[in-house]
Amino acid sequence: MPQGQSSTREIPETGSIPKHIAIIMDGNGRWARKRFMPRMAGHQQGVETVRGVIKACIEQNVAYLTLFAFSSENWRRPADEVSYLMQLFTGALEQEIGKLHENGIRFKVIGDLSKFDHKIIEFINTGEQLTAQNTRLTFTIAANYGGRWDIMQAMRKMMAQSSDLPLHFEEENLAQYLALSYAPEPDLFIRTGGEYRISNFLLWQLAYTELYFTNTLWPDFNEQELGLAIQAYQQRERRFGRTSEQLQIAISAER
Ligand code: IPE
Ligand code: IPE
Ligand code: MG
Repeated sequence: MPQGQSSTREIPETGSIPKHIAIIMDGNGRWARKRFMPRMAGHQQGVETVRGVIKACIEQNVAYLTLFAFSSENWRRPADEVSYLMQLFTGALEQEIGKLHENGIRFKVIGDLSKFDHKIIEFINTGEQLTAQNTRLTFTIAANYGGRWDIMQAMRKMMAQSSDLPLHFEEENLAQYLALSYAPEPDLFIRTGGEYRISNFLLWQLAYTELYFTNTLWPDFNEQELGLAIQAYQQRERRFGRTSEQLQIAISAER
C-alpha cells in the first residue's frame, strides 16, 4: 500500500509481524504510587521501557514504532508534572539522538511543536535531520499530539494549497497532510495501563488497526509483553470489511 493511503479504500499489505506498532504508554503514575514514589519516578522508569521496546522492535523487524508521549490534553496536569515531563523529554533528546543514529534508527516527532521551548524544537530538528536517511526502524514520538488537531491541521494545509474552491476532496488528498503521512497506517495499537480508550491518539490512522489492551503498567512493559501483543495480533483475522470466506478463497488462490 502506498504510504499515506487509506485502509478504508485499499486493503493494505499485512504480514505476521506488524509493520507499524503504535503505543499509548500509560500507567507511569500508578506504577510509582504502588511503590510509594512520586509520579515523576514512574515517568523516569518509563523512559527505560522505551529503550527496551525500541530494541525489541528492531529484533522483531518492526519497521515503524510510534509512541504517544504527551497528549494535547496533558497540559491540564499539575504544572510541576508538566515541567518535569518537559525536562525528561529534553534530557532524553539530548542523550539518545546520537545512539538512535548509531543504531540506524530514523527519528521523527509529530504534534504541535509551537508550544515547546526553542531548545526542544532545536533538538528535534537536529535529530530528524541527522537520522533522516536511516532505514532500520522509524521511531516516532507523538508530543503535544492530538488526533483531532492532526485532522484539523491537515485540513487547513490542504485548503491553503488548493486554489480552485469549491473542491472535490478524496481521503488520499487529506491523508498526505497528516502528521504521520510518511508511515503506513498502524497494524497494531497497544495501550498499557488498563484503560480502554484512544485518548485522542491517531484517530484517522487507527481506522482498521488491531487494538490490544493490557493491564501491565508502562514501566513494567518489556520484550515479553511486546511478544504477547504481537502473538495476539497474529491470531487476528484482518478482514477489512470482507467475510472470512472471501479471505479463505483469496488465500487458496495465492497458493
Ligand atoms: C503515562 O502515564 C505518561 C503520560 C501521560 C505522560 P500516566 O502519567 O498517565 O500514568 P497514570 O495513568 O497516572 O498511572
Ligand atoms: C494518554 O495518557 C496520553 C499519553 C500516554 C501521552 P493519559 O493517561 O493522559 O490518558 P487519559 O487522559 O487518562 O485518557
Ligand atoms: Mg494515564
